[in-house]
Amino acid sequence: MNHEIVEKNIGLMVVLIVLVISVAGLVQIVPLMFKDQTTQPLEGVEPYGALEFAGRDIYVREGCYGCHSQMIRPFRAETERYGHYSLAGEFVYDRPFQWGSKRTGPDLARVGGLYTDEWHEIHLINPRDVVPESNMPAYPWLAERAVDGERVQHRMRMQQRFLNVPYTDEQLDAVPGELEGKTEMDAVVAYLQSLGTAVSQRR
Ligand code: HEC
Repeated sequence: MNHEIVEKNIGLMVVLIVLVISVAGLVQIVPLMFKDQTTQPLEGVEPYGALEFAGRDIYVREGCYGCHSQMIRPFRAETERYGHYSLAGEFVYDRPFQWGSKRTGPDLARVGGLYTDEWHEIHLINPRDVVPESNMPAYPWLAERAVDGERVQHRMRMQQRFLNVPYTDEQLDAVPGELEGKTEMDAVVAYLQSLGTAVSQRR
């Protein structure tokens, strides 16, 4: 049998394994090189502004991703509930992305503009005040803690320098000033309000 030859000849097996992995790899990688859509920002998608950027870091710090995904799959059950399915070009400045798959709470990919800032503030201080059956934890400290402008500036500079996020130096110089007097609540709300807004079709 042909297969027996392969099984008994380790050198041949190695060559065939390398061949299979190479071809399979090319099939996945080559199309991406010709598909701008996966690497270019969608029209209207800009790098996060200082306040949104700060909010995003707090979102990660607080582990919101443990219960919330940020990716709408292209299935009817998802698009009817959350809006247009997610597009690759929406995430080009997300480093790292927050797609996730754990949904104890709803997907947040298009939550921007869905509620008022005030709704988010009340909801984050105590979710039960606006959604009585909610089991989301409360985050009251967000309203009391100030955003550290210098730290955010440093983080943004790192993304400009090492990850090629197109911030200008003038933009970065202005960051601490922009964030003066802002609370972590302001930042998280600004971040949530920015999510998914480049694609207009919502729900
Ligand atoms: C233990 C799981 C859990 C964690 C952690 C969690 N949430 Fe939630 N979240 C939920 C659940 C469940 C709901 C749905 C009920 C409600 O609206 O409160 C929800 C709802 C929401 C909504 C409203 C979404 C909509 O479409 O109505 C927003 C916005 C939100 N969460 C933001 C956050 C943010 C920001 C954090 C982190 C600071 C966070 N959540 C952490 C479980 C969680």
